[in-house]
Amino acid sequence: MNFETACVHAGQPPDPTTGAVMMPIYQTATYVQDGVGQHRGYDYSRTGNPTRTALEACLAALEGGDFGLAFASGMAATDTVLRLLAPRDHILAGNDVYGGTFRLFERVLRPYGLDFTYVDTTDLNQVRSGLRPKTRMIWLETPTNPLLNVSDISAIAKIARDTHTPPYLVVDNTFATPYLQRPLEMGADIVVHSTTKYLSGHSDVVGGAVVARGASLRERLAYLQNAVGAVPGPMDCFLILRGIKTLPIRMIRHSENATAIADYLAKHPKVSRVLYPFHPSHPSAEVARRQMRFGGGMVSIMLRGGDEEARRVAESTRLFALAESLGGVESLIEVPAIMTHASISNSPFAIDPGLLRLSVGIESVDDLLADLEEALG
Ligand SMILES: Cc1ncc(COP(=O)(O)O)c(C=O)c1O
Repeated sequence: MNFETACVHAGQPPDPTTGAVMMPIYQTATYVQDGVGQHRGYDYSRTGNPTRTALEACLAALEGGDFGLAFASGMAATDTVLRLLAPRDHILAGNDVYGGTFRLFERVLRPYGLDFTYVDTTDLNQVRSGLRPKTRMIWLETPTNPLLNVSDISAIAKIARDTHTPPYLVVDNTFATPYLQRPLEMGADIVVHSTTKYLSGHSDVVGGAVVARGASLRERLAYLQNAVGAVPGPMDCFLILRGIKTLPIRMIRHSENATAIADYLAKHPKVSRVLYPFHPSHPSAEVARRQMRFGGGMVSIMLRGGDEEARRVAESTRLFALAESLGGVESLIEVPAIMTHASISNSPFAIDPGLLRLSVGIESVDDLLADLEEALG
C-alpha cells in the first residue's frame, strides 16, 4: 500500500462479523473464554483490545516498522521505552528535547539510576564525543519543540552503529509525522510519538505510540506495555485512527500555510528571527530538506520587543487560540517559557521568554496572515 492508502486502510479491514466499514470501538475490559485459558486472541484489555490492535497495525505500517504499540500519552510511550534500560545505563539526549521529556529524564528517571547527558545533536562532533562505554540509548527529537532544531538522523544512526556496543537510536517523530519523515528507514531503532498532535490531528485526544522493528524489541516492549499498563482506551484509539485517515492532506496544508507564515514573519520589522525547518535562514535547512518531505506546521519566532511583546502578541490574536499543545487543524499560539516549557525554566535549557510558538492550522492562510498582522501591529 502507498502511504495515503495505508492511512485509510492499514490494520482496518471491514469488521468480519458485521461488515462495519469503520473500526468498531470495542468498549470492553474483558472477553469470554471458550474453555479455561482458551480465548480468541483477547483476554483482558490492558493486554490487548481489537480497536487498539487496529491502531497499532496502522502505526506500524505508516512508520515502516514491524510492530506498533499504543500508549495513553506521549510521555507514557517515552517512559516505557526508557524501561528497556537498567540502572547505571547512560543515555545521550538532545539538549533541546520537549520540556516534559527533560522533566521525566531528570526528575523521575535519574533518581532511579539512569544517567543522562545532553548535547547539541545538530553537531555530529558533540554526538561522537558524548558517547560513553555505558551509552545504551541516543534520544533524538527532530525537529525539536519549540526551537525547531533539526538533527541528521542517518548520520547519527551511522555513529551509533559504528560503536562497540551500538546503543538504541530513538527518534521522537511527533513534529514531523511519518508522512514527512520516516526515521526507521534512516537507521533509527525506535520511533516515539505523541499521537495527541498531528497523528490524531483534532486536539480531542491524548495518546502516544512506539514503533520499531525486530522480534526481540517487539517482545520486550509489548511485555513492558502490558506490565506497566499505560494503555489508551478504545475510544481514544478510534479517534486517533480516524484522524490518521486524513494525515497526508492535513500535513500538506499545514506545511503550505506554515511556509507562507514563516516567509511573512521573516520580513516583519518586529520579528528578529524565524525558526522554520525549510526556511533558507534555518541553520539545518539542507538536512531538513534531505530528510523531510515538507517543513511541517510549526513555526517559532523571536520578537525584537522581548518577553513583554511576546506575551502581548500571544494575547492579541483572534484566530490563533492561546493554548498549549499543537498539531490540530486549528491554529494555536503560545509562549513556551511560561506555558509548555515552564518545567525547565530553572534548567540550563530554559527557553527565552521572548520566543513565540505557532502551531499553524489548516484554515485559510489569508485569514491567518491577517490575524498575525493585526496582533503584531
Ligand atoms: C515532541 C513531543 N514529544 C512528546 C510529547 C509528550 O506527549 P503527550 O503530551 O501526549 O504526553 C510532546 C508534548 O507536547 C511533544 O511535543
